[in-house]
Amino acid sequence: MSTKRYEETLAKIKENNSYRILRNTVKSGKNINFEGKNYLNFSSNDYLGISSDIELWNNFLQNNILNDTSFTGSNCSSRLLTGNSEHYLVLENYLTEIYKSETALVFNSGYHVNIGILPALTTKNDLIIDDKLVHASIIDGVRLSEAKKIRYKHNDLDQLEEILKTERHLHENVFIVTESVFSMDGDLADINKLVEIKKKYDTFLYIDEAHAIGTYGKKGLGLAEELGLISEIDFIVGTFGKAVASQGAFVICSSLFKNYLINKMRSIIFTTALPPFSLIWTHFILQRITNMSKQRAHLMKLSEYFRSKISSIGFETNGSSNIVPLIVGENAKCIKLADYLQENGIFILPVRPPTVPDGTARLRFSLTSQMEYSEIDKIIDLLKKY
Ligand SMILES: Cc1ncc(COP(=O)(O)O)c(C=O)c1O
Repeated sequence: MSTKRYEETLAKIKENNSYRILRNTVKSGKNINFEGKNYLNFSSNDYLGISSDIELWNNFLQNNILNDTSFTGSNCSSRLLTGNSEHYLVLENYLTEIYKSETALVFNSGYHVNIGILPALTTKNDLIIDDKLVHASIIDGVRLSEAKKIRYKHNDLDQLEEILKTERHLHENVFIVTESVFSMDGDLADINKLVEIKKKYDTFLYIDEAHAIGTYGKKGLGLAEELGLISEIDFIVGTFGKAVASQGAFVICSSLFKNYLINKMRSIIFTTALPPFSLIWTHFILQRITNMSKQRAHLMKLSEYFRSKISSIGFETNGSSNIVPLIVGENAKCIKLADYLQENGIFILPVRPPTVPDGTARLRFSLTSQMEYSEIDKIIDLLKKY
């Protein structure tokens, strides 16, 4: 037994400026306190500013938790044993109602969803084709599957079609997998075209809307809602840990697939159910998110303003959502720029490979609806001076 390999690997990670640490932080609205200093927080996925809304929180506790004599702190078992409390039914029924779908299935996290669905549904006779920039959780799920795997260049749907032309007839089932809003680039998949392709080549379409839930669509149900395409997509995945300010995740799918996943998906079968508290809070928040169009509109306008200002002062950016990347390139340069902004009260962290492709280290500004134009102008001034 030797620990040499681990020590050497950590030393190499440090040498590459890729060493990661866990930070102890205290959050308050759009601000964050770290090591005694206050910052404006541009590194949170709390897109609608819900997570530290004290009034909402008190309202929730008073009306939903404190007077509930049957309340328990945990579900203490897998959903398939005794963990499936009534709160799951309430939440899944609500999701089914707002998505006008056949059904919905709730999971412990987006990671559980993405590592579980594809391996459960595919065999070696199938093919998974995924966008090259999908989230690590999807990559892990694809790896766990027995299916053949091919990746297409980011958002290159011509290449996707080329792959389908040569491969479709060789496989029983084909799954096209993408995110709708890409987590590190903030750009969007062309869902209209993907639906067209899915129909033309008779495939399943799996879309991870983790970063679009709460921010896109009239009711905040995601980009598929905004485009009127919910019913055309076989698997819509959403998470509760970002704009919904809770924990857990869900898939919108057919009853057949729901039943199949309950029977075959390891990451729902072999894990303890979510606690009632999370399920009740998620339901409570979802009911409010459907009415937050004003916040969504402000968030999108502010993000567009920020993106155009970044470009106008000569920095590289991308996308069209409230995730605004500033692409730096080298790790060391990216760290230096992040340090400079942190010294000036902006909480922003460098995002480096392997989270993003080599040579594309970046600052990922994540805007929330509580932010104001003056705060964006402050960052632009700092960048100009840099
Ligand atoms: C696109 C995407 N899918 C899935 C996840 C995982 O979701 P969760 O944090 O609920 O595990 C994330 C982020 O964490 C994500 O960005």
